[in-house]
Amino acid sequence: MKSTLRRSFLRKIATASAIPLVPSFLQQASGTSWITDYKSAYAKTPVSQTSHVEDLVKDETFWYQIKNMYGCSPGLLNLNNGGVSPQPLVVQEAFERYNRLCNEAPSYYMWRVLDQGREPLRNRLAELAGTSSEEVAIVRNTSEALETIIFGLRLEKGDKVVVCNLDYPNMANAWKQRAHRDGIILKEVQLDLPNMSNDQVVEAFAKQITNDVKIVHITHLVNWNGHILPSKRIADLAHAVGAKTIVDGAHSFAHLQDKIPALGADYYGTSLHKWLCAPFGTGLIYVKKELISELYPLLASPDPESDDIRKFENLGTRSFAIEQAIGQALDFHYAIGGALKQARLQYLKEYWALAVKDHPRIQVRTDTHPDRSCALCIVYVDGYTAADLGSRLHTDFKIHTTSIEYSNVEGVRITPHVYIVKDDLDRLISALHSLAES
Ligand SMILES: Cc1ncc(COP(=O)(O)O)c(C=O)c1O
Repeated sequence: MKSTLRRSFLRKIATASAIPLVPSFLQQASGTSWITDYKSAYAKTPVSQTSHVEDLVKDETFWYQIKNMYGCSPGLLNLNNGGVSPQPLVVQEAFERYNRLCNEAPSYYMWRVLDQGREPLRNRLAELAGTSSEEVAIVRNTSEALETIIFGLRLEKGDKVVVCNLDYPNMANAWKQRAHRDGIILKEVQLDLPNMSNDQVVEAFAKQITNDVKIVHITHLVNWNGHILPSKRIADLAHAVGAKTIVDGAHSFAHLQDKIPALGADYYGTSLHKWLCAPFGTGLIYVKKELISELYPLLASPDPESDDIRKFENLGTRSFAIEQAIGQALDFHYAIGGALKQARLQYLKEYWALAVKDHPRIQVRTDTHPDRSCALCIVYVDGYTAADLGSRLHTDFKIHTTSIEYSNVEGVRITPHVYIVKDDLDRLISALHSLAES
């Protein structure tokens, strides 16, 4: 939308629907309704020549208001949202409110009041995941979800498991521990990304997925460089030889729009404190209904062979405030909308990557095609190690990133989230140019 058009459009919606362009602190607290009002006014406006999602993706006024709904540091630019995401204020406030309530009489408010919210929450998470409510349990993070699966599977000495050189270390270590303790055999796929096409990735897995393989571990979105693996195609190979699949969805849940069944996952784990922006220490485990009874829980339950997914929630006393505030994170996610969120993250990645990629000393080392990456992307500047580049971005420009040197991946990982605006990325672009030229 041209800027004059946008100005008149903004005036129109501000007067027509009385939407404040700058929400007050209180309006930020109930920000989700502001988002939906703004979006629906946008959808109705006749000035848009294209779909309103396409226009909203580029509407910095809208995204500045989203930014104001977080309490992020105005000084430090956080471009490591891949590590863990901040929570919008509505989520922080819900958590604090529930926590204060629990402290009035913990055993009453936790176990008799807030605990009543667990089943409705399970239903809502299942809806986002595209599964039955009877297949998802609420846990603390991806590590707990996937280690519950890895250690709960009935594998025996000599059973073969396919893993990959770019799996997350906690998962790789869990598999190595099983190999050490139980004598299972690990077959490691070697990926060299972004230099391999999807066909070559599938081919590399195909070589390891022999008829005697029992489990194939698939990292849906590789944390090191943001590459999206063709999970369903790999899962189809596994299923063809009777193997089961575990999908690590730490980075794809509420980031990409894929539902869990579309990934070909028999077992799945994710963290809700990443792309959903739920409180720190929230995660989800998915187990296909018919496989629940044969998977042992990590923390014992009365009937370990039960087919009730709740057997994976036997954690003992924990914070119910954290768990219940996942509900506000879901509201916030739905208010923006999964399609708009993914499109905006894609747009932000393309915005900075396109601006630096032709510099002779800068390399964008992630495949930026929308089918193969979204928000996470790696950059490398000639003459700097990844650690040096990360440290200069921080000390000289107060830009927080993460430096990656793992397997065959080297660079600084840049990860915006929905509260990052183009002005923030202009700061990154100028910092990268300046370091490349110094
Ligand atoms: C691919 C992948 N798997 C698993 C994890 C572990 O997540 P958590 O620390 O939330 O358990 C991460 C964390 O970044 C990850 O990137």
